[in-house]
Amino acid sequence: MIPSVLPTYTRAPLHFVKGEGSWLVEEDGRRFLDLGSGIAVNALGHAHPALVAALTEQAGKLWHVSNLYEIPQQQALADKLVGATFADTVFFTNSGTEACELAVKMARKYWYDKGLPEKTDIIAFSGSFHGRSSAGIAAAGSEKMVKGFGPLLPGFKHLEWRDLDALKATIDDNTAAVLLEPIQGEGGIRPLPDDELKAIRALCDEKGCLLVLDEVQCGMGRTGRLFAHEWAGIIPDIMMVAKGIGGGFPLGAVLATEEAASGMTAGTHGSTYGGNPLGCAVGCAVMDHVADPAFLADVNRKAGLLRQKLEGLVAAHPEVFEEVRGSGLMLGLKVKPTPAEFVKAGYGALVITVPAADNVVRLLPALTISDDEIAEALARLDAAATALETA
Ligand SMILES: Cc1ncc(COP(=O)(O)O)c(C=O)c1O
Repeated sequence: MIPSVLPTYTRAPLHFVKGEGSWLVEEDGRRFLDLGSGIAVNALGHAHPALVAALTEQAGKLWHVSNLYEIPQQQALADKLVGATFADTVFFTNSGTEACELAVKMARKYWYDKGLPEKTDIIAFSGSFHGRSSAGIAAAGSEKMVKGFGPLLPGFKHLEWRDLDALKATIDDNTAAVLLEPIQGEGGIRPLPDDELKAIRALCDEKGCLLVLDEVQCGMGRTGRLFAHEWAGIIPDIMMVAKGIGGGFPLGAVLATEEAASGMTAGTHGSTYGGNPLGCAVGCAVMDHVADPAFLADVNRKAGLLRQKLEGLVAAHPEVFEEVRGSGLMLGLKVKPTPAEFVKAGYGALVITVPAADNVVRLLPALTISDDEIAEALARLDAAATALETA
């Protein structure tokens, strides 16, 4: 008999009942050090006092009104995002997937309104992940994502990750946009070097297409800058954001320049829940912390500390680890057993990690993780590796 919850996930037998900062408490009382953060969602850890206060205060006043009315919390969050980024304008969604939907629509509408309706193709890359909607799976294009779900949304081309020669050869008069994650998350923490992102930006400008960045996983302070593309000193035309922006409240956004957003006039897009008062009150509290330069400087300091310790861990367990990679607090351990085996050994050592493709285990701790917790994380990862060696 089919379970009452549609069985699309293989779930670990863990039942968390409470979260405190970087810690998750299991029903039986065990305390797990959370290096997954709900896959880069709980940017400020669990039950951060400022987020609890923002949520409860707003919940007592007004949860939801339609986008048919003005929403001051939404306006405030949009102003914060516009003030802190390349963007001139923001549309709020409930998730990264919906941000992908709008990013694709926005890029196509831009060219349509410019009198170039043939420019509809989106060029994306192997190993990418942009969500599970029809546009999201068509953008990713992998067999795993699309098999059985045809007919696929047309207009997506796929190239090997980091194949800039192929990109140069593929962008043509029908290309609306190039879509990529500055650091692939699900694909196995695969960063695009800064000079390559710069070259792609230049190529898009030269050939006349838009650059859409998916910063759903790598954005919101995760790499030590508010958004990962800032390290390369470039700006996108359109950017997808989600996960960390709500700190655990379902919230996403599409940020865009005025030019790229010019096709999205009244009536061209909408969302019932996107940008509602409750979500945006929480989003404002997240932004007040994460966009603070002192907070980001501390993320960078802690990232250096964690990275250095992980290099030592990899060197100490050559049978378990191949390398550490990534940026900031978005790190990957390439493992020799399967990622699932390592993640399971982590459960035994009371540490939560997240599997990814390319034989990588992701470490996406809360950006608020302390130095002591980093030391504890290493002890627990070491215990997990030792358990695998002696199994
Ligand atoms: C880079 C990236 N884009 C898009 C998505 C989809 O976001 P959501 O699951 O919020 O729909 C994800 C989710 O993992 C992601 O990592």
